[in-house]
Amino acid sequence: MAYAFSTGARGAGPLDELPPEGNRRLWTWGTLIAVGGFLFGFDTGVISGALLYIKDDFDLNDFEQGSVVSVLLLGAMAGALGSGRLADRIGRRRILMLEGVLFLIGTVVAVLAPGYWVLLLARIILGLAVGGASATVPVYLGEIAPASVRGRLLTLNQLLITVGILVSYLINLVLSSGGHWRAMIGAGAVPALVIVLACVARLIPESPQWLLANDQDDKARGIMAKLVGDQHADELLEKRRESLEEEEEGQSAGWRELLSASVRPALIVGLTLAAIQQFGGINTIIYYAPSIMRETGLTASNSIFYSVAIGIINLVMTVVALWLVGRLGRRPLLMISLGLMVVTLALLGLTFVAELSSTLSLVFMVLYIAAFAVGMGPLFWVMIGEIFPPHASAVGASAATAVNWSSNFVVSLVFLTVVNAIGQGQTFWIFGVICVLGVFFVAKYLPETKDREFPEIDKDIQARFGRSAEQPSA
Ligand code: GLC
Repeated sequence: MAYAFSTGARGAGPLDELPPEGNRRLWTWGTLIAVGGFLFGFDTGVISGALLYIKDDFDLNDFEQGSVVSVLLLGAMAGALGSGRLADRIGRRRILMLEGVLFLIGTVVAVLAPGYWVLLLARIILGLAVGGASATVPVYLGEIAPASVRGRLLTLNQLLITVGILVSYLINLVLSSGGHWRAMIGAGAVPALVIVLACVARLIPESPQWLLANDQDDKARGIMAKLVGDQHADELLEKRRESLEEEEEGQSAGWRELLSASVRPALIVGLTLAAIQQFGGINTIIYYAPSIMRETGLTASNSIFYSVAIGIINLVMTVVALWLVGRLGRRPLLMISLGLMVVTLALLGLTFVAELSSTLSLVFMVLYIAAFAVGMGPLFWVMIGEIFPPHASAVGASAATAVNWSSNFVVSLVFLTVVNAIGQGQTFWIFGVICVLGVFFVAKYLPETKDREFPEIDKDIQARFGRSAEQPSA
């Protein structure tokens, strides 16, 4: 009998929805894993407020300030690149635990830092942890979830990223009166500890997909039975085994296999989505919102308040995405989101070029964030947990995540320079053009992954790249 894990057809069988007990378990595991996403959001967000006080404490010039912010992005790039092979070797749970430990170490070093250089070192360590976790979490979630809930579970990652950003803004707000920057950064130790403990105490199971690939079928079956019940576990196991066997069984892919003809289309999709997500300009708002708003004539004292407002919109619209992703396919949702980003960026640019009122700029900025959060924000992280063949999922996600961080680095680095050269409004128009290209790319190349297990996703992706899935890989 066809059921939803294998066929993906809605209403195809009794397991279209998980049994309540399995459902509760899955979301508990998913939430604990996605604390990795929280750390991502927290650490990229906390520095904006902390920097104001670090600058005075350590007497930092502009370049030094910029470096404290951006070395984290470089560290994250390296962490993302390094985590894939290791995740295959030692398993998803152990790598997540290591990332939690690294995160704790980085936090402690930052809190105790006597000066600029040690702080820089701490930010690199934090970057390695954040980058590693950002590549691990989508793979882990994607492998643990049956197809019918996978989109929603993967969206949880972005939800916790946005919660992390918002919490960091709020902590900054609360602690700013005393200038307690060490406490602001130190607060990140709490979620890091949660991850380490959850892994050590085995509150999260190892990924069944990884266990299968490493010949531990019994354990994999036990975990699946906890989700879908005993009688369906074999069926699901068989399905997962099949997708592994269609690939080079039991072997995990190295970097070179990513370029093989069978994996290359997924790689192109992952890397391009990563670049579009970042070159659409989102983090210029997330990182620089206060300075952009000052440009519109609003007072600096209100800036943290507006950051919080932006953080809230970002979070609320991600909740909407979580709801939508189970209903609409990935392709329509992504096209709608990118289309709305084009419109809001065009209008936001216009408010600067035509020197319209600052309130209008603010309105379009908020609408742009909403357009991003409802699709592009979560869906990049969803797709990289879904499009790669099982044997290449960790290295594939790791490559796409590294491109995401490096694009983020480039945009953050050159943003202010470009604004000074061509103007604020024109810069937003460039982001808009990139989103237009994004719409075309998605329309032509993005496979539909909703409710599908890997073999069907693969067929779709190969067809879009003009290959038949049956063709032997080069
Ligand atoms: C996505 C992006 C990240 C950004 C965040 C904002 O997760 O990958 O760079 O900061 O959305 O919500």
